[in-house]
Amino acid sequence: MTWLVTGGAGYIGAHVVRSFQEAGVPVVVLDDLSSGFDGFVPEGVVIVRGSILDGELVERTLREHAVVGVVHVAGYKYAGVSVQRPLHTYEQNVTGTAVLLAAMERAGVDKIVFSSSAAVFGTPDTDLVVEGTPKSPESPYGESKLIGEWLLRDQGVATGLQHTSLRYFNVVGSGDPGVYDASPHNLFPLVFDALLAGRTPASTATTTRRRTAPACATTSTSPTWRARTSRRRVASRPASPSSRPTTSAAATASPCARS
Ligand SMILES: NC(=O)c1ccc[n+]([C@@H]2O[C@H](COP(=O)([O-])OP(=O)(O)OC[C@H]3O[C@@H](n4cnc5c(N)ncnc54)[C@H](O)[C@@H]3O)[C@@H](O)[C@H]2O)c1
Repeated sequence: MTWLVTGGAGYIGAHVVRSFQEAGVPVVVLDDLSSGFDGFVPEGVVIVRGSILDGELVERTLREHAVVGVVHVAGYKYAGVSVQRPLHTYEQNVTGTAVLLAAMERAGVDKIVFSSSAAVFGTPDTDLVVEGTPKSPESPYGESKLIGEWLLRDQGVATGLQHTSLRYFNVVGSGDPGVYDASPHNLFPLVFDALLAGRTPASTATTTRRRTAPACATTSTSPTWRARTSRRRVASRPASPSSRPTTSAAATASPCARS
C-alpha cells in the first residue's frame, strides 16, 4: 500500500506527504535535500536521503518499502536559472526521471504521478490555456518537464505504466505553517519578501493575459490554504539534520549538489 514521494522534503512534496497521511496511506520519502528540508517531513515518515539519479537506491527503496506507486515531485525548478544551467536541469529532470522509471520497472511498480509544470506551454497566444494547447516551452526547465511527460507516456505504451502529469503554474500557500516555498526565484516568495520589507512588489511581466486550466491545481485543498499564505515567511526554517528515521541505504547515498 505504500507510496513513494520523491522530493517529499520540498515545498509541494511535503504537502503531498501530509495528504497521504490524512488519507491513511503509508508513505516514504526519497530526497537528496538539495532544496528541501528534512524538517518539512512529518514525524514518523521515513526519509531516504539520496538522489533519484541513484537507480540502485531507488530500486532498493521501492522493494524495501513494498511501494505500489510513486508521486514524482523531485526536480530542479528554477526556470530562469535553467537557461544558464541546462545540463544540470536536464540531468535532474530528464535523466532523473528516466532512472526512476527504470527502477520502477525493475521493481514492478506501475503507477506514477509526475510533477510537471505549466512551463511546458511557454507563452501561449490564447486567453485560456487548456490541456490540448500546443506545448512550446521557453526554457531548458520547461523542455525538461515536457520530455519527462514523454518519458512517462512512452513507458506507458511499452510497459503499461499508469501515469498522469500535473501542469501547475505558480503554486502558493501553505497547508501547514511549518512548510513553505523557500525558493529565491518563485513569484510569490518574491512578492511576500517585498511586502514584508515594506516595498511594493515589482513585476517584469509584459502580459497579464495568461490564465491557467483547471488541471493546473494547487497542492492542497485545505481551507486554511489561503489564510496561512501570509504567514509563510514568519515560520522559522526547520532545523537540519533531524533525528527522523532514515534507512541504512540513505546513509550511504551521495546527495547531489545544492543549486
Ligand atoms: N513551486 C511551483 O510553483 C511549481 C510549479 C510547477 C511545477 N513545480 C514542480 O514541482 C516540483 C516540486 O516543486 P517545489 O516547489 O516543491 O520545489 P522544492 O525545491 O521545494 O522541492 C523539490 C524537492 O526535490 C528534492 N530534489 C531535487 N532534486 C532531487 C534529486 N535528484 N533526488 C532527490 N530529491 C531531489 C529537493 O531536495 C526538494 O526537497 C518540482 O519538480 C517543480 O519543477 C513547482
